[in-house]
Amino acid sequence: MSSLVNPTCDVLIAGGGIVGLATAVELALRGAQVTVLERGQCARAASWAAAGMLAPQAEALPSGPLLELALRSLSLYADWTAKLETLTGLNTGYWPCGILVPLLAEHQNQLSCQERPQDWLSADAIHQLQPGLSAQVIGGRWLAQEGQVDNRLLAQVLLAAALQLGVDVREQVELEQFQSDGDQVRQLLTTAGEFRADHYVLATGAWSYELLKLPVTPRKGQMLALQAPEPPFKRVLYGEDIYLVPRQDGRVVVGATNEAVGFTKGNTVAGISALLKGATTLFPALAELTIAELWWGFRPATPDEAPILGPSPWQNLVLATGHYRNGILLAPITAQLIADFLQTEAVDPLLSAFRWDRF
Ligand code: GLY
Repeated sequence: MSSLVNPTCDVLIAGGGIVGLATAVELALRGAQVTVLERGQCARAASWAAAGMLAPQAEALPSGPLLELALRSLSLYADWTAKLETLTGLNTGYWPCGILVPLLAEHQNQLSCQERPQDWLSADAIHQLQPGLSAQVIGGRWLAQEGQVDNRLLAQVLLAAALQLGVDVREQVELEQFQSDGDQVRQLLTTAGEFRADHYVLATGAWSYELLKLPVTPRKGQMLALQAPEPPFKRVLYGEDIYLVPRQDGRVVVGATNEAVGFTKGNTVAGISALLKGATTLFPALAELTIAELWWGFRPATPDEAPILGPSPWQNLVLATGHYRNGILLAPITAQLIADFLQTEAVDPLLSAFRWDRF
């Protein structure tokens, strides 16, 4: 155990992914002195592996607090990314391009005619809106309010903003243990010594269980990217078990598997071939593109697939983890609610649905 004691700060954030960085930036903008500790490199892990969809409805989030949280976060996105872009002079790739949810004939039993939502497009309408879809597409939803952000760019912008605002960001620091006195965390032991703060935020995503025995487990997602000379379509296509996210530069992000295999690394033949089959079934011309990249990541999953936010068993430790498939989408609202909670100790009514002790 190291005896090095680092300078004390107002808020110490464990985890330098998008949730930790967004919270750090929000707190720094409100005048707090913030330190971020990251076990690897900031802005990597799930924040880097994601596709960046802003897709509360395409992801079919259940109505109730999670959908409300997601819609509130989506409504913050335009101003939040504009503010970060102004602050740093960098581009986040925020693109409110809409999401099309095409239905293939083979899946039509999943939706009866009575269930068709108001935003439903007929076969003719969907093929007119989006040429190039498979002839097997028999209709679908058009979610004009949803879209995407380039999650890799956004994470880098957040890191740049944090540094610019004076956040003390430490990378390659293994987080070993919170030490407490009664209901207060006294310090966090790490491979870079002991860190003390008035308040602590746990934002370590899929690795949260290592520090606190919260029910957060890794859920692997394999992904790939195709490269076209220019975008083959200009909206997200969200099919059954497959999504296609076009970037402005002609890259198409294809995701994702959803595997309960712990932290098993690597792309598999089964995973990648399923993604390629799903992609070319939905949009056949993708078969001509080159494969630019393969990767995988670990979503932080909870038993009810909703995040764990707000108070913890310790008075000065706040939880911001378990965002599962929606970490990029939920980053701005998480940062805002956690910063509000730290500033006022008032729990937003929405936060109470995401307490750690609901399990
Ligand atoms: N939000 C998409 C995914 O987790 O694959």
